[in-house]
Amino acid sequence: MKRITYLVLALSLTVFGACTKKAEVAKSKALLVGTDAAYAPFESENAAKEIQGFDIDILKAIAAKAGLELQFINTPWEGLFTQLASGDRDILISAITINDTRKTQMDFSEPYFEAAQLIAVPTKSKVQKLDDLKSLKIGVQTGTTGDDIASKLVGKTNANVKRFEGTPLALQELQNGGVDAVVADNGVINNFQANNNGDFKVISDPSFPKEFYGIAVKKGNKELLDKINKGLAEIKADGTYDRIYQTYFKEKK
Ligand code: ARG
Repeated sequence: MKRITYLVLALSLTVFGACTKKAEVAKSKALLVGTDAAYAPFESENAAKEIQGFDIDILKAIAAKAGLELQFINTPWEGLFTQLASGDRDILISAITINDTRKTQMDFSEPYFEAAQLIAVPTKSKVQKLDDLKSLKIGVQTGTTGDDIASKLVGKTNANVKRFEGTPLALQELQNGGVDAVVADNGVINNFQANNNGDFKVISDPSFPKEFYGIAVKKGNKELLDKINKGLAEIKADGTYDRIYQTYFKEKK
């Protein structure tokens, strides 16, 4: 009697084990993509909690060419790079500006988008250039290139640099009057300005460098990076890239 019970138990454990293994194998085919989905129009979550945006469409199109299966995971910006290094994410696409510091931590695809910083201030603000922010409260998303600009302007430890975990929080603080300006990527700032019926204006500064977004993989993952670069070249060549660009940015490229 006892023996039979053990046998049944052993059998069912084996079957169960085999099943979960199978499910894991099926799941493990999909590459895990980390993105801080609070950065419209590049990545955001819709009401149904689906991740959408320019970056998402671009990477999906690349994946279709390269035969890759993707699973997008909303991942906070802080810790995003660590998740890639630790292997918890296979790919990052998150409007990430390629720069030398980051290049030591991960490998980037060819650039897929050109960007620059912009300053958002209330329409009635006297601010005309970056220098005018020197004694004002500046909102930025922690660890972004906008943070770099504010930190360089007034010093990293200056209390006037107000750091937020997400850019929407910084912009909300601008609406609430808690900060005088926000420095962030042009696509996001323009989107914010367009959605706020004339309450805010947008300022560029000649000192802002050109930035280029890249898709990131773990350092040394050349096989995946090659596939991504090939797919990117293909969607640029066959008009897919332009079509996606038009949907989000409307003007001719
Ligand atoms: N391009 C800027 C940077 O790399 C900001 C990117 C923020 N992206 C995001 N999904 N929150 O620092």
